[in-house]
Amino acid sequence: MTAGALTPVEADAARGILPDWAVATPARRAHMSRVAALMESWARERGLSETEIARWTATGWLHDALRDAPPAELIPLVAESERDLPLEALHGPAAAGQLEGQVDPAVVSAIRHHTLGHPELDPLGRALYLADYLEPGRRSGAEEWAELRDRVVSDPGAVMIEVVSSRISHLLDARLPIHDHTIRLWTSLLSGNRP
Ligand SMILES: [Fe+2]
Ligand SMILES: [Fe+2]
Repeated sequence: MTAGALTPVEADAARGILPDWAVATPARRAHMSRVAALMESWARERGLSETEIARWTATGWLHDALRDAPPAELIPLVAESERDLPLEALHGPAAAGQLEGQVDPAVVSAIRHHTLGHPELDPLGRALYLADYLEPGRRSGAEEWAELRDRVVSDPGAVMIEVVSSRISHLLDARLPIHDHTIRLWTSLLSGNRP
């Protein structure tokens, strides 16, 4: 669990004010705002402190801060070991790198892994992974997704299995590769390492 007072970057982001290096279209900001709202409601339902609720909200706002930057501009921002990630997965590590030292380390980690998942996601990281997939603007009209959103706090392990399964199925159907982090996340969920 994260700890400590909010940093200035977290306090701004919790109110929807992004760092000036963010590159996000109005549609993207609307998605980030819906993810932030879900994160806030789940943090509140978990009974977290007001500081942690604000931190979870800020994580939702910050996660796609570089989603609309051209991938070529993101490559220099990520570590050598992350440069072979799929292009659509570069924005998480790139934003995480920019936020290092500016926000709680748990926020950095959640944002770094929000696209592909990771077997060692903590509760904040799992919540961001789920909120990004289940936010109502992305899945509008699907009762199944609304039902999963409602069960995140009471049964997070089961919801993780549903969402990771859905994401992997999509990759298989589209004949796309499945990243090692995603496969290890799936295996860890099945072996009982649940949130
Ligand atoms: Fe993203
Ligand atoms: Fe997102």
